[in-house]
Amino acid sequence: VDSKTGQLIDLHEQAAKLYHHILVNTEMGQPALDYLHQRGLTDATIEQYQLGFAPGQRLLKPFFDQRQADYQLLRQSGLFIENTQGELRDRFTERVMFPLRNASGHVAAFSGRVLKKTEDQPKYLNSPETALFTKSRLLFNFDLARPAIRQAGEVTLFEGYMDVISAAQAGVLNGIASMGTSLTTEQIYAIERTTDKINVCYDGDTPGQRATQRAIGLLQQHSHLQVSVIQLPEGQDPDEYRRAHGDEAFQQVMQSAKETPIRFQLRYLRRDRALDTDSERLAYLNDVMPLLAQVSEPVALDLYLNQLANEFQLDKSALVAQLKQVRQSTA
Ligand code: UTP
Ligand code: MN
Ligand code: MN
Ligand code: MN
Ligand code: MN
Repeated sequence: VDSKTGQLIDLHEQAAKLYHHILVNTEMGQPALDYLHQRGLTDATIEQYQLGFAPGQRLLKPFFDQRQADYQLLRQSGLFIENTQGELRDRFTERVMFPLRNASGHVAAFSGRVLKKTEDQPKYLNSPETALFTKSRLLFNFDLARPAIRQAGEVTLFEGYMDVISAAQAGVLNGIASMGTSLTTEQIYAIERTTDKINVCYDGDTPGQRATQRAIGLLQQHSHLQVSVIQLPEGQDPDEYRRAHGDEAFQQVMQSAKETPIRFQLRYLRRDRALDTDSERLAYLNDVMPLLAQVSEPVALDLYLNQLANEFQLDKSALVAQLKQVRQSTA
């Protein structure tokens, strides 16, 4: 760790402490603390994740000025916005603060959530890219989850910070989050150094399903990875599911709702399709063929073929013949 990096980390850890103090010990932080309690988080969880609050006034700037922090260092930290006069203002105001720790457990960035969603503000505002923080590399909670990932032999990948935190509160400790819905190759490299079994548990809404489809494709390029999908009902996200059904049901669904990527994709391909005309049914079956062509286990393939033959009242040999054509044309 060079001294510049060390100093930037130091700034972030001081900022995290201060935001946390504002949240748990001050009048200013009370609405944010109420908000987190309403969302079902306990004080222990708030403590463990060092959640905080950035109030709607200048906070970090005077704090660091008092400690005679270096102006250039502050500029490069991403914690401030610089105006045309070169003056620094706190980047995060009126937001619940989530410290983003790197794989070694040091605070490298923040994400701040608005207390109330509005049209004109992003729900979560992240730190900009800095010497400490590359969005495409960071996996939220990877530092805390790693022992649990090793112990369970698998990792569960969520979409959001709240999903990871909510899962951890329910005792599911091997959860991490890609920063939003776009899993990256760099993140996969980091994951596969710890485990080769990965459960994708993105939100049950349309963006979450689309992201799942995309993540599966990316993960399957790493052929040694064993990928499962956990889809939650009714468009819920994991945190909403836990809140609606309780910790035990949550643990249960994390264990038992795993399905194969193919199973997910078969379902995904039929979303928005009524399948009430022959041409729609044929179009669906056409889309399904390249998926089935990837299935290498004979038993699994037979299972899917039987189900399709049954559902569409087809002769299985017709499906097999078409699959053979698809395999030949892509070979
Ligand atoms: P979601 O919109 O699903 O939010 O985005 P969420 O995690 O359920 O958050 P809550 O429950 O409303 O608090 C999933 C993730 O995408 C990123 C965040 O990492 C978020 O957790 N995101 C989302 C952003 O970075 N910016 C945004 O404006 C929205
Ligand atoms: Mn504390
Ligand atoms: Mn989402
Ligand atoms: Mn969500
Ligand atoms: Mn949510």
